[in-house]
Amino acid sequence: MRLALRIFAALAIPPGAFAQQRILSPAGPAGASLAQLGWFVFILSLVVLAVMWLLIGLVLTRPRGSLEEHEPADTGGGQNWIFIGGFAFPVAILAIMYIAGLDSMSHFPLSGGMNTPAEIRIVGHQWWWELQYFDGTLNQHFITANEIHIPVGRNVDIDLASDDVIHSFWVPALHGKVDLIPGQINRIRIEASHPGVYRGQCAEYCGAEHARMILSVVADTQEDYARWLARMREPGAAPATEEQTQGQAVFMSGGCSVCHTIDGTLAGGTVGPNLTHIGSRGKIAANLLDNNTANLAAWVTHAQALKPDVVMPNMTEFNGDQLRELVVYLESLK
Ligand code: CUA
Repeated sequence: MRLALRIFAALAIPPGAFAQQRILSPAGPAGASLAQLGWFVFILSLVVLAVMWLLIGLVLTRPRGSLEEHEPADTGGGQNWIFIGGFAFPVAILAIMYIAGLDSMSHFPLSGGMNTPAEIRIVGHQWWWELQYFDGTLNQHFITANEIHIPVGRNVDIDLASDDVIHSFWVPALHGKVDLIPGQINRIRIEASHPGVYRGQCAEYCGAEHARMILSVVADTQEDYARWLARMREPGAAPATEEQTQGQAVFMSGGCSVCHTIDGTLAGGTVGPNLTHIGSRGKIAANLLDNNTANLAAWVTHAQALKPDVVMPNMTEFNGDQLRELVVYLESLK
């Protein structure tokens, strides 16, 4: 009894706890259609299960006569059971599921295919997401990482590419999975029907830190999105205090700039995520850790402990003052 209660407590997920990454809490038309399909298949499976247990129950409880009371096996008795239960019934159930699946796909927001330019290109890296925004004129394009902002209430076409191995874009509340494949561009069209932060996950095993290749889609109101776009188009904020100036110097001389870009500075590395607006992002390390002072310092000095095998090395050459200045500078890059 106690075990049953414990299992029940584990299943009764408190509202909100995992709400962001649940297929059954859709936040857009494609997600809603998939949630419906999920429920339909789940209930259909329960019906099939009930029928099967009913039959098993009948077999177990039916009266057993003597051998003489039964027909010999070679009279063909029971073949209807095999035809209906082993062929007709499964074919009917699978056909129903297939049609339901096709119907679900027909409700996805219709993509214009590759003929229309995408607004965003997402490039998968081991183990983070590069985001290229093509909105506006050429000089308004920008690159950011890991936190995908989209405007609420309209379709957003996203091109998916990969820089190394196969990854998969999956934000369950918004849509199904589409792979990011080296040497090929795939397309997904998503729409969020209400504002919020929707968690996603790389859904194709891509190496040691696959499980920590987390996605975050922030659906903004039209005004918030316009404001965000405008901010992202700006170069990195110039240092405003002595501490930030020192921090920028540490960034430029300490090896950070070899791998990371901060627009408007000499830092132009493309190995790691673009940090031009790192201070504005909610999370760091591909949405693994909250973006706060302690985690930034920990990430700089102990990335290999937090995410073993990540390209980011442990930067242990800074003293306490330099580390603090560096983090203050990063936090100022709003
Ligand atoms: Cu990227 Cu799994």
